[in-house]
Amino acid sequence: MSVIDRILALAANTVKTIALSEGEDPRMVAAARRLADQKLARPVLLGRPDKIAEAAGKAGVSLDGIATLDASQGPRLAEFAKLYYEKRKAKGLTEDQAAEAVRDPLWYGAWMLETGEVDGFVAGAVNSTANVFRAGLQVIGMAPGIKTASSCFLMVVPDCEYGAQGAFIYSDCGLLPFPDAAQLADIAVASNTMAKALLQTTPYLALLSFSTMGSAEHPNLDKVKEARRIIKENHPGIHVDGELQADAALIPAIGSSKAPGSPVAGKANVLIFPDLNAGNIAYKLTERLAKATAIGPLPQGFAKPFSDLSRGCNADDIVIAAAIVSVQAAGRVAEVASTGGPEAVPQKKEEEIVELVSEIVAQRIREILDKQA
Ligand SMILES: CC(C)(COP(=O)(O)OP(=O)(O)OC[C@H]1O[C@@H](n2cnc3c(N)ncnc32)[C@H](O)[C@@H]1OP(=O)(O)O)[C@@H](O)C(=O)NCCC(=O)NCCS
Repeated sequence: MSVIDRILALAANTVKTIALSEGEDPRMVAAARRLADQKLARPVLLGRPDKIAEAAGKAGVSLDGIATLDASQGPRLAEFAKLYYEKRKAKGLTEDQAAEAVRDPLWYGAWMLETGEVDGFVAGAVNSTANVFRAGLQVIGMAPGIKTASSCFLMVVPDCEYGAQGAFIYSDCGLLPFPDAAQLADIAVASNTMAKALLQTTPYLALLSFSTMGSAEHPNLDKVKEARRIIKENHPGIHVDGELQADAALIPAIGSSKAPGSPVAGKANVLIFPDLNAGNIAYKLTERLAKATAIGPLPQGFAKPFSDLSRGCNADDIVIAAAIVSVQAAGRVAEVASTGGPEAVPQKKEEEIVELVSEIVAQRIREILDKQA
């Protein structure tokens, strides 16, 4: 099963409630139809009823059985406005500004997530990345122990024996231009959580650089070493090493010769780049030269899951984004359950799950695999 196939199957296993914040867009409505029909998630389309109906007409799908909600008339507007005002009044937000902001479906959806009405939200087909992240920063906030929001890409490289059978988390490729050591550590810890959810295997984190374990000396390397020290100190259970060059991180023979005894060298599946220059260049080169599928940027480090989209996305991209958010939400629930919390993840047999994955979504997987072939 490909990693994307597995994410869809895992989403079908948990069926989370996901707000689609730009419900007036035909791509969102088409995605909602597929999510509902294939039981990958319970979508809630946010938008004005007449505009959602118009979008459904344009997408050529029915809205039967799909929940819709007009944020500008939302039943919890007053509550959300109060919560938002209380949270941001020290930063100068006025009551009127808070009341106005929560009428926007992006912000209403973020508050639905924050208050537990939905398990995640997907936006960005219409809103800018900055707006989506701002809603995440101001409403959801950071996960415990993490101060820095960042983003990652799920990279699926065809015919590749490295990483998690060709799947990797690359981070940060989209948000922080020059992370300091503490921020780099936060990026790595958040990527570890993301890798556990999406790769479904033990994450091995390589803090990448142009040197392997002291082979070169330069002030730029100090922050990478310091990030490793911070992670080791605060999260001794995380498999992390650095500084490592990319070949030593990925290839067993090079890893064992350049970094003998390293717990990560030669088997890294999470690549942490020292800055945005390196991360962004690397993911685009991998995508173009290795014909990899790049899924993201996926927001990470937040207390609850949501997804950003490219404004050029299509309905299939939204389905996959919603599935990823569902899987992240299930991962959170599983963590709560494993620490004695009240929620538990229902289990189904894999054969039952696979049956739930739609022909349309399966077609998308085939397209991705064909592209890789
Ligand atoms: C993410 C981004 C929107 C934040 O912008 P901002 O103007 O700082 O946003 P806000 O003022 O609403 O920030 C809210 C809070 O989050 C904090 N914050 C900003 N970036 C943060 C980050 N990466 N991690 C944690 N907190 C952050 C702010 O300091 C602010 O803190 P405060 O509550 O103490 O005031 C901005 O950095 C951005 O636009 N980044 C580029 C994203 C992008 O377009 N990438 C393109 C490639 S995908």
